[in-house]
Amino acid sequence: MKINEYLQNFTNDGFVKIENAINKKLILKVNNSILNVLNEKKNNFNSLDQTSGAFKKIFISRKNNNLDLFNAQKNIYRHLDEQGCLEDLISSEKIHQIISKMLGSDLEYQKQNEFIINISKKEKQNYLFKKFHQEVWSGASTNTILIWIPLFQQSTNGQMKLVQNSHIWGHIPHHDKEPIKIPKGAKYLESNCKIGDVILFHALTLHSSSPLKKNNDVVGRLSMAVRNFKYPKNGIEDLNDWKKYSYSPNTIIEKKLGNPYLSPFRLSFQNILKHPLRKYKFK
Ligand SMILES: [Fe+2]
Repeated sequence: MKINEYLQNFTNDGFVKIENAINKKLILKVNNSILNVLNEKKNNFNSLDQTSGAFKKIFISRKNNNLDLFNAQKNIYRHLDEQGCLEDLISSEKIHQIISKMLGSDLEYQKQNEFIINISKKEKQNYLFKKFHQEVWSGASTNTILIWIPLFQQSTNGQMKLVQNSHIWGHIPHHDKEPIKIPKGAKYLESNCKIGDVILFHALTLHSSSPLKKNNDVVGRLSMAVRNFKYPKNGIEDLNDWKKYSYSPNTIIEKKLGNPYLSPFRLSFQNILKHPLRKYKFK
């Protein structure tokens, strides 16, 4: 599919699936890194299926029955941020091309978000197993784009459900984070992603977690938020931290100038050559 077709689908439906958006080698590196944290030892699996099997084994083992899922999910997300994995994933060429075409290239991602561990027998106790909701309910701006990435799975079960066109219904009335009313004839679509595929969706698109079909199944997914740091914000996302990961040429020039008054007048050629952004690598 061409970039313009992805943009067209996102605009029409409120979401788009980007197939083969992330290189499998990168996902393998990320998965091994997550398993290192969970197993507290160095893992070096060389197939994605093996990583998914090892991931599942950790959470169905009896000794992890009382594991604090909320903190485990939070710690993994933080680890991925510290290791630079989040930036690597969203800087994948196809994803970056599409997002920068949507928002421009002054981009940042939210540093506190979700690594979701979906365990079939614990869906009801898991805070991150969500009913239908819009991200704006949790304070997202309408300019923020959400990225959903499956990392550990052995089938396409237990992903997410999205409601086509719901982004143009506006802010859906809700109570205790559940919609009060959904228009008749709403069309529900399963994400059905293979590993490497990614869903981009609008902050107003209604979506939910989908239950796993098999008992004793466990999958791992990543949910991220990206925005242009120069766009106006109409949410409360600034209560969280964000990390800038891409700059436009004009922003680099602003950073080189160093202040909004454009002073001091930089005449020393030596200083210009020493500037850390002189060799900024565009993504
Ligand atoms: Fe969500």
